[in-house]
Amino acid sequence: MQESQPSPIALTGRPVISATGLFTPAESISNAELVSSFNAFADRHNAAHAEAIAAGEAEPLPYSSVEFIEKASGIKSRHVMSKAPILDPGTMCPRLPERGNDELSIMAEIGVAAARQALERAGRSPQDVDAVLCAASNMQRAYPAMAIEIQQALGIDGFGFDMNVACSSATFGIQTAADYIRAGNARSVLVVSPEITSGHLNWRDRDSHFIFGDVATAVLVEDAAIAPSAHWDILGTKLKTVFSNNIRNNFGFLNRATPETEGTPDKLFVQEGRKVFKEVVPMVAQMILDEAKRLGIDPQTLRRLWLHQANAGMNRLIAHKVLGHEANEDESPTVLDTYGNTSSAGSIIAFHQHRDDLAAGDTGLICSFGAGYSAGTVFVRKIG
Ligand code: COA
Repeated sequence: MQESQPSPIALTGRPVISATGLFTPAESISNAELVSSFNAFADRHNAAHAEAIAAGEAEPLPYSSVEFIEKASGIKSRHVMSKAPILDPGTMCPRLPERGNDELSIMAEIGVAAARQALERAGRSPQDVDAVLCAASNMQRAYPAMAIEIQQALGIDGFGFDMNVACSSATFGIQTAADYIRAGNARSVLVVSPEITSGHLNWRDRDSHFIFGDVATAVLVEDAAIAPSAHWDILGTKLKTVFSNNIRNNFGFLNRATPETEGTPDKLFVQEGRKVFKEVVPMVAQMILDEAKRLGIDPQTLRRLWLHQANAGMNRLIAHKVLGHEANEDESPTVLDTYGNTSSAGSIIAFHQHRDDLAAGDTGLICSFGAGYSAGTVFVRKIG
């Protein structure tokens, strides 16, 4: 809070979620389109290496399959910012033209769209916001911070900074925002998660080419004293990190692409999917149960779980451990089928789209998990 602009309202130091916003790219890619493009690429690759393959010196690239993707992940399609180049077997990555320094960058643009929706839904003007956190898996550039560009585009007088905790960026952002409210350092904080994950995905890797999609979300975290009457109390937040190489991306400013390194797969998303599945499920389920206990919440009374959207099977297992029974779509909704894995935005999309039917007093959980490893829980209760 700016000292020069004292609030006329007595602040409570209790953080709530006042509203959320969502930007969804217009274009989307179905599994059938994706597999057809991948298989055309595999055909080209195998034709180009036909001699080596015939001589037993190289393995042919196997086909991808729609059935595998749906069964292994629950994903049926994903939204993207740049469809045609991703599907072009000769390109297979997004091509988003660079913009001039005097133009709004693409990541800020989609973040601003999500943020505007959150502000509108809360009946809030940008002048009332004190801080912007841009919390996402990838930043478009090193500096100036994306958050500051979003802050400027919205006309917010305050401060902003970027934070990256991979798939857990949004929940880490919510706790950070909540802590500003708790400490009285801000009354209103926007947590913006523009996730253009198509840029870090290796669309030529059969094991992972189906995983990710693009989106942007925004969460407005505010002091209960200024929040709209209908909001979500934040009952408690908990974060956890445990180092692991099982989800990794070595892209960075110390390894600029050279003709030799360009396209090196380790400068994109790589994972040991099976290990991630096995190690993260028990870690996250236990974390949720421990935190529920600390907050005095019986986990079986949770009305809804808005879980990270990486894999339908992982969510089934986690929800079962938490609720004590097989969760249905009402208890643990999925957005994976149409959005794919949107990294930190996944649990926020689920919360954004599947919460209006809950009754006042209902308690639920927003939970993320992913690279780091990192995991975050935000227990919330519907008010109004
Ligand atoms: N099409 C057809 N077959 C494929 C395929 C594709 N696109 N990709 C892999 N396969 C094959 C594999 O080659 C393997 O064949 P094999 O049994 O002959 O060796 C088989 O399918 C199983 O592959 P595997 O990688 O073990 O699949 P999986 O059941 O573990 O599912 C993931 C893969 C990635 C969907 C799953 O492990 C997962 O979601 N893990 C968690 C990932 C996660 O949350 N990551 C966080 C990201 S932020």
